[in-house]
Amino acid sequence: MKFAHGARVIGVGAGLPQVVVTNFDLEKLVDTSDEWIKTRTGISERRIASDEETTSQLAIAAAQDAIGFSGINPEDIELIVVATSTPDNLYPSTACMVQGAIGAKRAAAFDMEAACTGIVYALAVAQQFIGSGTFKCALVIGVDIHSRFLNWSDRNTCILFGDGAGAFILQATEKNEMLGTYLRADGTGGHLLHIPNTGSAYPHAGVTPPQATHGFLEMNGRAIYEFAVNAVPEAVRAACAEAGISVEDVDFLIPHQANMRIIKSAAERLGMAAEKIVSNVGEMGNTSAASIPLAMWQAIRRGQIKEGSTCALVGFGGGLTWGAAIVKWTAVDQRQTNADEKTTKKEAKI
Ligand code: UT7
Repeated sequence: MKFAHGARVIGVGAGLPQVVVTNFDLEKLVDTSDEWIKTRTGISERRIASDEETTSQLAIAAAQDAIGFSGINPEDIELIVVATSTPDNLYPSTACMVQGAIGAKRAAAFDMEAACTGIVYALAVAQQFIGSGTFKCALVIGVDIHSRFLNWSDRNTCILFGDGAGAFILQATEKNEMLGTYLRADGTGGHLLHIPNTGSAYPHAGVTPPQATHGFLEMNGRAIYEFAVNAVPEAVRAACAEAGISVEDVDFLIPHQANMRIIKSAAERLGMAAEKIVSNVGEMGNTSAASIPLAMWQAIRRGQIKEGSTCALVGFGGGLTWGAAIVKWTAVDQRQTNADEKTTKKEAKI
């Protein structure tokens, strides 16, 4: 699609809970083992939000980190889009909470939900506003605290997820660096990955708070696995075609971090060498809408992604939804930081 104005990513940031929960910690909760989790998923540990840490707080931390990276003033931001399935409350939106907290006085703000693909959808939405000339600067955040919606006695799901937030700053530019996007959905597969009893269809909605409780994430893991290994290559190929480049021109594949086996299988199907894969699933688990920006944030800090790299950001998840964005990374960290990650760790208390 041709836009009247170009867009580029000028900053990336992260907001992470402090507590690290290892596979060994989970061995104490459910009938599982570090060996099973590592072999089947590639995950060793994940961050889990404490009772005091909220979705909006993680989103605000990621926003501030990305603002610092890009060197912009919060008042430059004209649009805030937050992708989340796990907001603090139904409203006010997480985006409005971020807007107020960071002092983005000129910004419009709203949330959108496309589960783990949310950040790709949110980038595409922000690009539309910038491409049309409506706004010049956008803050796009993917954030989730899935741990609050997990059944901690279900070994099929509780070992997979982590919590976190990742943010991008997008700016209007003459030379477009957001080269192509592709978004798809298939609502007939919604039941394969869902969190029932959390919305207005919830039959106990009128019950007095102490008795009311919400539902937990339910998933057909095998079906989602099979969907993902096809959806990722489809989305990357289609977004590359939209960008007018071939898959071989992609320097880095930055997929939704759900399972290392899904990531490797998709890369093989695309004919991509292992060195092109960006992954932090081992240390973060599946952070849902946050996983792509968090993986990119770490890869930039570690020097894996360099200026001029062409990156394929590709997501899949509940809805079902899937999609990809081809982004040329040309930004420079305005803080000129070294490689330390501001990620104070605490031991899990399980
Ligand atoms: O954002 C998208 C979110 N979801 C996903 O991306 C999930 C996609 N799916 C997957 O990643 C994989 O399907 C899983 C990691 C969830 C499961 O791996 P799998 O290789 O598909 O295993 P499976 O479900 O076929 O289960 C194999 C066995 C079963 O035992 P039996 O029936 O063969 O005796 C499970 O009960 O492994 C058992 N199992 C476990 N064992 C130890 C399932 N979970 C665990 C566990 N620890 N945590």
